[in-house]
Amino acid sequence: MLVSGAAFGEDAREARGKALYEEHCAACHQFDGGGVPMMQPELIDKPRANGPIGGVIDMILFGSAAMKPTDEDYSNEMPSFAHLSDKDIALIATYVRTHFENNGGYVTSDDVRDRRPRN
Ligand code: HEC
Repeated sequence: MLVSGAAFGEDAREARGKALYEEHCAACHQFDGGGVPMMQPELIDKPRANGPIGGVIDMILFGSAAMKPTDEDYSNEMPSFAHLSDKDIALIATYVRTHFENNGGYVTSDDVRDRRPRN
């Protein structure tokens, strides 16, 4: 990466978040965040997409098997994306929280690092 963190502007961060979402999440949650009935939820105004930042970070870090199931039953299982960097997870989480009719706050790399298990 040639650009420094400070030079990595808002538009570039949003474009990178979108690209990462489309690479890792859109196959299941769809490009518009609409999900697929019975298989995986939409991400539009959902508690763990738009609520406290820990919800979406934990979903990405731990996947659905480690998280409390929601009221609805979805046949698919969401894998863990813990192998992605704190920064990439933060960009994806921010993208989810600022698109699909969501208006949640930004997520930083530090927010993600704080929620990784320590051992
Ligand atoms: C293989 C399919 C699949 C992939 C890929 C996937 N998910 Fe999921 N996701 C699911 C399923 C299934 C659930 C529902 C889990 C449950 O509640 O039992 C879910 C739930 C969620 C939720 C919670 C929604 C709510 O109801 O509050 C969020 C947020 C989320 N996913 C974000 C993401 C993000 C961001 C990515 C990409 C890094 C991603 N998912 C990739 C299948 C997937």
